[in-house]
Amino acid sequence: MSGEETSLHPMLRLGRSGALRGVCRVPGDKSISHRALLFSALCHGSVEIGGLGSGGDNASTAGALRALGVSVRVEGTSASVQGVGLSGLREAGTALDCGNSGTTMRLFCGLLAGQPFATTLTGDPSLSRRPMGRVAKPLRQMGARIEGQPDPARPEGILPPLVITGGSLRGIDYTLPVASAQLKSALVLAGLQAKGKTCIEEPGLSRDHTERMLRFLGAPVSTDATGRRIVVDPTGWNGELRAAEVDVPGDLSSAAFLLVAAAVVPGSDVTVESVGLNPTRTGALDVLRAMSAKIEVAQTGEAMGEPVGRVRVCWSGALRATRIAGELALRSIDEIPALAVAAALAQGRSEFADLGELRVKESDRIASIARELQRAGIAVEEFADGFAVVGSGGAPVKGGQVLPDHDHRIAMAGAILGLLSDQETLVPSEDIATSFPTFAEIIQSLGGNLRSD
Ligand code: S3P
Repeated sequence: MSGEETSLHPMLRLGRSGALRGVCRVPGDKSISHRALLFSALCHGSVEIGGLGSGGDNASTAGALRALGVSVRVEGTSASVQGVGLSGLREAGTALDCGNSGTTMRLFCGLLAGQPFATTLTGDPSLSRRPMGRVAKPLRQMGARIEGQPDPARPEGILPPLVITGGSLRGIDYTLPVASAQLKSALVLAGLQAKGKTCIEEPGLSRDHTERMLRFLGAPVSTDATGRRIVVDPTGWNGELRAAEVDVPGDLSSAAFLLVAAAVVPGSDVTVESVGLNPTRTGALDVLRAMSAKIEVAQTGEAMGEPVGRVRVCWSGALRATRIAGELALRSIDEIPALAVAAALAQGRSEFADLGELRVKESDRIASIARELQRAGIAVEEFADGFAVVGSGGAPVKGGQVLPDHDHRIAMAGAILGLLSDQETLVPSEDIATSFPTFAEIIQSLGGNLRSD
Protein backbone atom coordinates (compact mmCIF):
# COMPACT_ATOMS: atom_id res chain seq x y z
CA MET A 1 0.00 0.00 0.00
CA SER A 2 1.44 3.42 -0.90
CA GLY A 3 1.91 6.19 1.65
CA GLU A 4 -0.60 8.25 -0.34
CA GLU A 5 -3.30 5.60 0.06
CA THR A 6 -2.72 5.10 3.79
CA SER A 7 -3.02 8.84 4.47
CA LEU A 8 -6.69 8.69 3.40
CA HIS A 9 -7.59 6.47 6.36
CA PRO A 10 -7.48 6.94 10.13
CA MET A 11 -4.02 6.24 11.47
CA LEU A 12 -3.20 4.59 14.80
CA ARG A 13 -0.23 6.19 16.55
CA LEU A 14 1.52 4.03 19.12
CA GLY A 15 4.50 4.54 21.38
CA ARG A 16 6.37 2.94 24.25
CA SER A 17 3.70 1.91 26.72
CA GLY A 18 3.38 1.39 30.44
CA ALA A 19 1.83 -1.81 31.80
CA LEU A 20 -1.33 -3.13 30.12
CA ARG A 21 -3.80 -4.21 32.76
CA GLY A 22 -7.41 -5.33 32.77
CA VAL A 23 -10.05 -7.85 31.79
CA CYS A 24 -11.57 -7.73 28.32
CA ARG A 25 -13.48 -9.60 25.63
CA VAL A 26 -12.67 -9.81 21.96
CA PRO A 27 -15.11 -10.03 19.00
CA GLY A 28 -16.61 -13.40 18.07
CA ASP A 29 -14.39 -16.00 16.44
CA LYS A 30 -14.10 -15.19 12.74
CA SER A 31 -13.89 -18.82 11.56
CA ILE A 32 -16.85 -19.92 13.68
CA SER A 33 -18.89 -16.84 12.69
CA HIS A 34 -18.51 -17.62 8.96
CA ARG A 35 -19.75 -21.14 9.60
CA ALA A 36 -22.54 -20.03 11.94
CA LEU A 37 -23.92 -17.73 9.22
CA LEU A 38 -23.50 -20.20 6.38
CA PHE A 39 -24.81 -23.28 8.17
CA SER A 40 -27.76 -21.34 9.62
CA ALA A 41 -28.75 -20.40 6.06
CA LEU A 42 -28.85 -24.14 5.29
CA CYS A 43 -31.22 -24.90 8.17
CA HIS A 44 -34.97 -24.82 7.78
CA GLY A 45 -36.36 -21.98 9.85
CA SER A 46 -35.11 -19.08 11.86
CA VAL A 47 -31.73 -19.12 13.64
CA GLU A 48 -30.51 -16.55 16.16
CA ILE A 49 -26.74 -16.09 16.40
CA GLY A 50 -25.12 -14.33 19.36
CA GLY A 51 -21.55 -13.07 19.71
CA LEU A 52 -21.06 -12.85 15.94
CA GLY A 53 -17.68 -11.56 14.73
CA SER A 54 -18.06 -7.92 13.78
CA GLY A 55 -15.24 -7.67 11.24
CA GLY A 56 -15.37 -7.11 7.50
CA ASP A 57 -14.73 -10.78 6.66
CA ASN A 58 -17.86 -11.99 8.43
CA ALA A 59 -19.82 -9.15 6.81
CA SER A 60 -18.67 -10.54 3.44
CA THR A 61 -20.20 -13.93 4.27
CA ALA A 62 -23.47 -12.29 5.40
CA GLY A 63 -23.54 -10.23 2.18
CA ALA A 64 -22.89 -13.28 -0.02
CA LEU A 65 -25.79 -15.13 1.63
CA ARG A 66 -28.09 -12.16 1.09
CA ALA A 67 -27.12 -12.10 -2.58
CA LEU A 68 -28.25 -15.75 -2.76
CA GLY A 69 -31.67 -14.82 -1.40
CA VAL A 70 -31.19 -15.56 2.31
CA SER A 71 -32.53 -13.06 4.84
CA VAL A 72 -29.66 -12.19 7.21
CA ARG A 73 -30.30 -9.38 9.69
CA VAL A 74 -27.26 -8.29 11.67
CA GLU A 75 -27.53 -5.91 14.61
CA GLY A 76 -24.24 -5.38 16.41
CA THR A 77 -23.07 -8.83 17.40
CA SER A 78 -26.45 -10.56 16.96
CA ALA A 79 -27.78 -11.98 13.74
CA SER A 80 -31.05 -13.46 12.68
CA VAL A 81 -30.89 -15.82 9.71
CA GLN A 82 -33.92 -17.28 7.92
CA GLY A 83 -32.62 -20.65 6.82
CA VAL A 84 -33.75 -21.80 3.37
CA GLY A 85 -32.27 -25.31 3.37
CA LEU A 86 -29.74 -26.76 0.93
CA SER A 87 -32.11 -26.42 -2.01
CA GLY A 88 -33.58 -23.00 -1.22
CA LEU A 89 -30.78 -20.73 -2.46
CA ARG A 90 -31.51 -18.68 -5.58
CA GLU A 91 -29.25 -17.44 -8.33
CA ALA A 92 -27.54 -14.16 -7.40
CA GLY A 93 -28.25 -11.16 -9.60
CA THR A 94 -24.71 -9.86 -9.07
CA ALA A 95 -21.23 -11.18 -8.31
CA LEU A 96 -20.66 -12.23 -4.68
CA ASP A 97 -18.06 -9.86 -3.25
CA CYS A 98 -15.92 -11.86 -0.79
CA GLY A 99 -13.84 -8.79 0.13
CA ASN A 100 -10.63 -9.79 1.92
CA SER A 101 -12.01 -13.16 3.02
CA GLY A 102 -10.46 -16.38 1.75
CA THR A 103 -12.78 -18.38 3.99
CA THR A 104 -15.85 -16.82 2.35
CA MET A 105 -14.61 -17.54 -1.15
CA ARG A 106 -13.49 -21.12 -0.52
CA LEU A 107 -16.50 -22.17 1.57
CA PHE A 108 -18.89 -20.70 -0.99
CA CYS A 109 -17.07 -22.61 -3.74
CA GLY A 110 -18.05 -25.82 -1.96
CA LEU A 111 -21.61 -24.70 -1.40
CA LEU A 112 -22.16 -23.37 -4.92
CA ALA A 113 -20.60 -26.45 -6.55
CA GLY A 114 -23.85 -28.27 -5.81
CA GLN A 115 -26.28 -25.49 -6.76
CA PRO A 116 -28.02 -25.57 -10.16
CA PHE A 117 -26.91 -22.12 -11.33
CA ALA A 118 -23.82 -20.06 -12.11
CA THR A 119 -22.25 -17.62 -9.65
CA THR A 120 -19.35 -15.19 -9.92
CA LEU A 121 -17.13 -14.69 -6.86
CA THR A 122 -14.85 -11.65 -6.58
CA GLY A 123 -12.51 -10.27 -3.94
CA ASP A 124 -10.25 -7.35 -3.03
CA PRO A 125 -6.67 -7.06 -4.37
CA SER A 126 -5.31 -9.33 -1.61
CA LEU A 127 -7.89 -12.09 -2.16
CA SER A 128 -7.46 -11.76 -5.93
CA ARG A 129 -3.90 -13.07 -5.66
CA ARG A 130 -4.72 -16.08 -3.44
CA PRO A 131 -4.65 -19.59 -4.95
CA MET A 132 -8.04 -21.12 -5.77
CA GLY A 133 -6.81 -24.10 -7.82
CA ARG A 134 -6.58 -26.12 -4.59
CA VAL A 135 -10.35 -25.89 -4.18
CA ALA A 136 -11.29 -25.97 -7.89
CA LYS A 137 -9.42 -29.23 -8.56
CA PRO A 138 -11.41 -31.58 -6.25
CA LEU A 139 -14.69 -29.76 -6.86
CA ARG A 140 -14.23 -30.28 -10.61
CA GLN A 141 -13.61 -33.97 -9.90
CA MET A 142 -16.96 -34.00 -8.11
CA GLY A 143 -18.66 -32.55 -11.21
CA ALA A 144 -18.69 -28.76 -10.80
CA ARG A 145 -17.47 -26.33 -13.46
CA ILE A 146 -15.13 -23.70 -12.05
CA GLU A 147 -13.34 -21.09 -14.10
CA GLY A 148 -10.91 -18.44 -12.93
CA GLN A 149 -8.02 -16.28 -14.03
CA PRO A 150 -4.67 -17.88 -14.88
CA ASP A 151 -2.33 -18.14 -11.88
CA PRO A 152 1.17 -17.22 -13.09
CA ALA A 153 2.75 -18.80 -9.98
CA ARG A 154 1.10 -22.25 -10.33
CA PRO A 155 0.77 -24.16 -13.63
CA GLU A 156 -2.68 -25.68 -12.89
CA GLY A 157 -3.82 -22.95 -10.56
CA ILE A 158 -6.49 -20.30 -10.89
CA LEU A 159 -7.06 -16.94 -9.23
CA PRO A 160 -10.26 -14.98 -8.53
CA PRO A 161 -12.63 -13.81 -9.91
CA LEU A 162 -14.19 -17.27 -10.20
CA VAL A 163 -17.28 -18.43 -12.04
CA ILE A 164 -18.83 -21.58 -10.59
CA THR A 165 -21.48 -23.49 -12.44
CA GLY A 166 -22.88 -26.03 -10.04
CA GLY A 167 -25.01 -29.10 -10.54
CA SER A 168 -25.17 -32.75 -9.61
CA LEU A 169 -22.07 -33.88 -7.78
CA ARG A 170 -20.62 -37.31 -7.03
CA GLY A 171 -18.69 -38.18 -3.89
CA ILE A 172 -14.91 -38.65 -4.18
CA ASP A 173 -11.97 -39.87 -2.10
CA TYR A 174 -9.53 -36.99 -1.80
CA THR A 175 -6.26 -36.40 0.02
CA LEU A 176 -5.64 -32.71 0.60
CA PRO A 177 -2.22 -31.52 -0.64
CA VAL A 178 -1.99 -29.20 2.42
CA ALA A 179 -3.78 -29.11 5.77
CA SER A 180 -6.44 -26.46 5.18
CA ALA A 181 -9.74 -25.97 6.99
CA GLN A 182 -11.07 -23.82 4.16
CA LEU A 183 -10.40 -26.54 1.60
CA LYS A 184 -11.76 -29.41 3.69
CA SER A 185 -14.84 -27.34 4.59
CA ALA A 186 -15.52 -26.65 0.90
CA LEU A 187 -15.34 -30.40 0.22
CA VAL A 188 -17.61 -31.21 3.17
CA LEU A 189 -20.20 -28.71 1.88
CA ALA A 190 -19.98 -30.19 -1.61
CA GLY A 191 -20.08 -33.71 -0.13
CA LEU A 192 -23.38 -32.97 1.62
CA GLN A 193 -24.89 -32.23 -1.80
CA ALA A 194 -23.26 -35.16 -3.64
CA LYS A 195 -24.48 -38.60 -4.56
CA GLY A 196 -22.52 -41.15 -2.51
CA LYS A 197 -19.78 -40.85 0.05
CA THR A 198 -17.04 -38.21 0.11
CA CYS A 199 -13.89 -39.20 2.03
CA ILE A 200 -11.41 -36.48 2.85
CA GLU A 201 -7.95 -37.01 4.28
CA GLU A 202 -5.77 -34.17 5.62
CA PRO A 203 -1.99 -34.35 6.04
CA GLY A 204 -2.32 -32.60 9.41
CA LEU A 205 -5.29 -31.64 11.57
CA SER A 206 -6.40 -28.10 10.70
CA ARG A 207 -9.13 -26.29 12.65
CA ASP A 208 -12.16 -28.59 12.89
CA HIS A 209 -15.02 -26.10 13.44
CA THR A 210 -16.91 -27.31 10.36
CA GLU A 211 -16.92 -30.91 11.52
CA ARG A 212 -17.91 -30.01 15.09
CA MET A 213 -20.67 -27.60 14.09
CA LEU A 214 -22.18 -29.70 11.32
CA ARG A 215 -22.28 -32.77 13.58
CA PHE A 216 -23.95 -30.59 16.23
CA LEU A 217 -26.58 -29.59 13.65
CA GLY A 218 -27.24 -33.22 12.68
CA ALA A 219 -25.38 -33.45 9.35
CA PRO A 220 -23.99 -36.84 8.23
CA VAL A 221 -20.34 -35.94 8.85
CA SER A 222 -18.02 -38.22 10.82
CA THR A 223 -14.30 -38.26 11.60
CA ASP A 224 -11.89 -40.97 12.71
CA ALA A 225 -9.94 -40.87 15.98
CA THR A 226 -7.17 -38.70 14.47
CA GLY A 227 -9.69 -36.17 13.14
CA ARG A 228 -7.75 -36.11 9.86
CA ARG A 229 -10.07 -38.47 7.98
CA ILE A 230 -13.58 -37.17 7.38
CA VAL A 231 -16.48 -39.04 5.83
CA VAL A 232 -19.54 -37.22 4.49
CA ASP A 233 -22.30 -39.66 3.59
CA PRO A 234 -25.63 -38.09 2.72
CA THR A 235 -27.14 -41.45 1.68
CA GLY A 236 -30.51 -41.70 3.43
CA TRP A 237 -30.19 -38.23 5.01
CA ASN A 238 -33.26 -36.00 4.67
CA GLY A 239 -31.03 -33.01 3.87
CA GLU A 240 -32.08 -31.09 6.96
CA LEU A 241 -29.85 -29.32 9.45
CA ARG A 242 -31.25 -28.71 12.92
CA ALA A 243 -32.06 -25.01 13.50
CA ALA A 244 -30.23 -24.41 16.80
CA GLU A 245 -29.41 -21.18 18.55
CA VAL A 246 -25.74 -20.39 18.11
CA ASP A 247 -23.41 -18.60 20.51
CA VAL A 248 -20.01 -17.74 19.06
CA PRO A 249 -17.03 -17.65 21.46
CA GLY A 250 -14.45 -14.85 21.33
CA ASP A 251 -11.66 -15.15 18.78
CA LEU A 252 -8.44 -16.54 20.24
CA SER A 253 -6.62 -15.32 17.12
CA SER A 254 -7.59 -11.73 18.02
CA ALA A 255 -6.90 -12.33 21.72
CA ALA A 256 -3.40 -13.53 20.78
CA PHE A 257 -2.31 -9.93 20.04
CA LEU A 258 -3.39 -8.83 23.53
CA LEU A 259 -1.81 -11.88 25.17
CA VAL A 260 1.50 -11.32 23.39
CA ALA A 261 1.33 -7.63 24.34
CA ALA A 262 0.86 -8.64 27.99
CA ALA A 263 3.82 -11.01 27.75
CA VAL A 264 6.19 -8.35 26.39
CA VAL A 265 5.11 -5.02 27.94
CA PRO A 266 6.68 -4.84 31.44
CA GLY A 267 4.27 -5.04 34.39
CA SER A 268 1.26 -6.18 32.32
CA ASP A 269 -1.57 -8.40 33.55
CA VAL A 270 -4.31 -9.04 30.96
CA THR A 271 -7.23 -11.45 31.03
CA VAL A 272 -9.36 -12.24 27.98
CA GLU A 273 -12.71 -13.81 28.84
CA SER A 274 -15.10 -16.07 26.88
CA VAL A 275 -12.62 -16.99 24.23
CA GLY A 276 -12.64 -20.15 22.09
CA LEU A 277 -10.19 -22.84 23.25
CA ASN A 278 -10.57 -25.40 20.49
CA PRO A 279 -7.33 -27.45 20.69
CA THR A 280 -6.74 -27.06 16.93
CA ARG A 281 -6.40 -23.30 17.61
CA THR A 282 -4.46 -23.10 20.89
CA GLY A 283 -0.91 -23.59 19.61
CA ALA A 284 -0.04 -19.97 20.46
CA LEU A 285 -0.77 -20.61 24.14
CA ASP A 286 1.65 -23.56 24.09
CA VAL A 287 4.26 -21.44 22.30
CA LEU A 288 3.96 -18.62 24.86
CA ARG A 289 4.27 -21.17 27.67
CA ALA A 290 7.39 -22.61 26.03
CA MET A 291 8.77 -19.06 25.86
CA SER A 292 8.32 -18.94 29.67
CA ALA A 293 5.36 -16.55 29.68
CA LYS A 294 3.21 -16.69 32.81
CA ILE A 295 -0.10 -17.87 31.46
CA GLU A 296 -3.28 -19.27 33.04
CA VAL A 297 -6.00 -20.98 30.99
CA ALA A 298 -9.36 -22.01 32.45
CA GLN A 299 -12.20 -23.63 30.53
CA THR A 300 -15.48 -22.14 31.73
CA GLY A 301 -17.99 -23.70 29.33
CA GLU A 302 -18.79 -25.07 25.91
CA ALA A 303 -20.63 -23.73 22.85
CA MET A 304 -21.66 -26.03 19.96
CA GLY A 305 -19.06 -28.60 20.97
CA GLU A 306 -16.36 -25.90 21.21
CA PRO A 307 -14.55 -25.36 24.55
CA VAL A 308 -14.71 -21.77 25.81
CA GLY A 309 -12.77 -20.13 28.64
CA ARG A 310 -10.54 -17.44 29.99
CA VAL A 311 -6.84 -16.77 29.40
CA ARG A 312 -4.66 -14.59 31.60
CA VAL A 313 -1.10 -13.53 30.83
CA CYS A 314 1.11 -11.68 33.33
CA TRP A 315 4.43 -10.19 32.29
CA SER A 316 7.24 -12.07 34.01
CA GLY A 317 10.47 -10.76 32.50
CA ALA A 318 12.08 -11.33 29.12
CA LEU A 319 10.73 -14.27 27.14
CA ARG A 320 12.97 -17.16 26.03
CA ALA A 321 13.53 -17.85 22.34
CA THR A 322 11.72 -20.88 20.93
CA ARG A 323 11.23 -23.08 17.87
CA ILE A 324 7.85 -23.48 16.18
CA ALA A 325 7.44 -26.28 13.64
CA GLY A 326 5.22 -29.21 12.62
CA GLU A 327 1.94 -29.67 14.43
CA LEU A 328 2.57 -26.61 16.62
CA ALA A 329 2.99 -24.45 13.50
CA LEU A 330 -0.37 -25.67 12.18
CA ARG A 331 -2.11 -25.06 15.52
CA SER A 332 -0.81 -21.49 15.61
CA ILE A 333 -0.96 -20.67 11.88
CA ASP A 334 -2.93 -17.41 12.24
CA GLU A 335 -1.02 -16.37 15.37
CA ILE A 336 2.44 -16.39 13.76
CA PRO A 337 2.43 -12.59 13.21
CA ALA A 338 1.69 -12.10 16.93
CA LEU A 339 4.22 -14.76 17.96
CA ALA A 340 6.84 -13.13 15.73
CA VAL A 341 6.46 -10.04 17.93
CA ALA A 342 7.00 -12.20 21.03
CA ALA A 343 10.14 -13.60 19.39
CA ALA A 344 11.29 -10.07 18.46
CA LEU A 345 11.33 -9.15 22.16
CA ALA A 346 12.65 -12.48 23.47
CA GLN A 347 16.18 -13.36 24.47
CA GLY A 348 17.92 -15.34 21.72
CA ARG A 349 17.17 -16.71 18.27
CA SER A 350 13.70 -18.12 17.58
CA GLU A 351 12.94 -20.33 14.58
CA PHE A 352 9.65 -20.59 12.71
CA ALA A 353 9.49 -23.55 10.28
CA ASP A 354 6.96 -25.60 8.24
CA LEU A 355 5.04 -22.43 7.51
CA GLY A 356 4.96 -22.37 3.70
CA GLU A 357 1.20 -21.69 3.85
CA LEU A 358 1.95 -18.25 5.29
CA ARG A 359 3.12 -17.26 1.79
CA VAL A 360 -0.50 -17.44 0.56
CA LYS A 361 -2.42 -15.78 3.39
CA GLU A 362 -3.88 -12.24 3.19
CA SER A 363 -0.32 -11.19 2.32
CA ASP A 364 2.88 -13.18 1.94
CA ARG A 365 3.16 -13.24 5.73
CA ILE A 366 6.76 -14.48 5.82
CA ALA A 367 7.84 -11.50 3.70
CA SER A 368 5.53 -9.11 5.61
CA ILE A 369 6.78 -10.24 9.02
CA ALA A 370 10.42 -10.02 7.90
CA ARG A 371 9.83 -6.53 6.49
CA GLU A 372 8.08 -5.20 9.62
CA LEU A 373 10.54 -6.69 12.11
CA GLN A 374 13.49 -5.37 10.09
CA ARG A 375 11.85 -1.95 10.01
CA ALA A 376 11.73 -2.13 13.80
CA GLY A 377 15.47 -2.90 13.87
CA ILE A 378 15.15 -6.64 14.58
CA ALA A 379 17.39 -9.12 12.74
CA VAL A 380 15.34 -11.58 10.66
CA GLU A 381 16.43 -14.33 8.31
CA GLU A 382 13.83 -15.42 5.75
CA PHE A 383 13.49 -19.03 4.45
CA ALA A 384 11.15 -20.55 1.86
CA ASP A 385 8.86 -21.94 4.58
CA GLY A 386 9.69 -19.84 7.61
CA PHE A 387 12.03 -17.37 9.25
CA ALA A 388 14.35 -16.87 12.21
CA VAL A 389 14.37 -13.89 14.55
CA VAL A 390 17.04 -12.66 16.92
CA GLY A 391 15.13 -10.98 19.73
CA SER A 392 16.03 -7.74 21.49
CA GLY A 393 15.80 -9.39 24.91
CA GLY A 394 13.13 -6.84 25.85
CA ALA A 395 15.04 -3.73 24.73
CA PRO A 396 12.90 -1.12 22.90
CA VAL A 397 12.58 -1.37 19.13
CA LYS A 398 12.37 1.31 16.42
CA GLY A 399 9.12 2.98 15.38
CA GLY A 400 8.03 4.02 11.89
CA GLN A 401 5.28 3.38 9.38
CA VAL A 402 3.75 -0.11 9.29
CA LEU A 403 2.79 -1.22 5.76
CA PRO A 404 0.28 -4.06 6.23
CA ASP A 405 -0.31 -4.84 2.52
CA HIS A 406 -4.08 -5.43 3.12
CA ASP A 407 -3.31 -7.85 5.95
CA HIS A 408 -5.10 -7.31 9.27
CA ARG A 409 -2.77 -9.51 11.28
CA ILE A 410 0.35 -7.75 9.98
CA ALA A 411 -1.24 -4.41 10.92
CA MET A 412 -1.95 -5.62 14.47
CA ALA A 413 1.48 -7.22 14.87
CA GLY A 414 3.01 -3.87 13.84
CA ALA A 415 0.82 -2.09 16.38
CA ILE A 416 1.88 -4.38 19.26
CA LEU A 417 5.50 -3.86 18.29
CA GLY A 418 4.72 -0.14 18.46
CA LEU A 419 3.93 -0.48 22.19
CA LEU A 420 7.63 -1.32 22.63
CA SER A 421 8.99 1.31 20.24
CA ASP A 422 11.05 4.32 21.20
CA GLN A 423 9.74 6.46 18.35
CA GLU A 424 6.15 6.73 17.16
CA THR A 425 4.74 3.78 15.19
CA LEU A 426 2.00 4.49 12.66
CA VAL A 427 -0.52 1.84 11.62
CA PRO A 428 -3.36 2.39 9.11
CA SER A 429 -6.45 1.19 10.97
CA GLU A 430 -8.60 0.18 8.00
CA ASP A 431 -7.05 -3.29 7.57
CA ILE A 432 -7.56 -4.16 11.25
CA ALA A 433 -11.35 -3.96 10.86
CA THR A 434 -11.23 -7.15 8.79
CA SER A 435 -11.21 -9.22 11.98
CA PHE A 436 -10.86 -6.99 15.08
CA PRO A 437 -12.64 -3.64 14.77
CA THR A 438 -12.41 -3.00 18.54
CA PHE A 439 -8.62 -3.53 18.64
CA ALA A 440 -7.63 0.13 19.25
CA GLU A 441 -10.39 0.66 21.81
CA ILE A 442 -9.33 -2.41 23.80
CA ILE A 443 -5.62 -1.52 23.72
CA GLN A 444 -6.58 1.92 25.05
CA SER A 445 -8.85 0.46 27.74
CA LEU A 446 -5.95 -1.70 28.94
CA GLY A 447 -3.83 1.46 29.24
CA GLY A 448 -1.80 1.10 26.05
CA ASN A 449 -0.12 4.13 24.54
CA LEU A 450 -2.30 4.42 21.41
CA ARG A 451 -3.96 7.40 19.78
CA SER A 452 -6.21 7.41 16.78
CA ASP A 453 -6.30 10.35 14.31
C1 S3P B 1 -9.61 -20.61 8.19
C2 S3P B 1 -8.65 -21.52 7.84
C3 S3P B 1 -7.21 -21.21 7.73
C4 S3P B 1 -6.91 -19.90 8.45
C5 S3P B 1 -7.88 -18.82 8.08
C6 S3P B 1 -9.28 -19.23 8.51
C7 S3P B 1 -11.02 -21.05 8.27
O1 S3P B 1 -6.85 -21.06 6.37
O2 S3P B 1 -5.58 -19.52 8.20
O3 S3P B 1 -7.54 -17.61 8.71
O4 S3P B 1 -11.85 -20.34 8.86
O5 S3P B 1 -11.32 -22.12 7.74
P1 S3P B 1 -6.48 -22.32 5.43
O6 S3P B 1 -7.66 -23.16 5.24
O7 S3P B 1 -6.00 -21.71 4.14
O8 S3P B 1 -5.38 -23.06 6.14
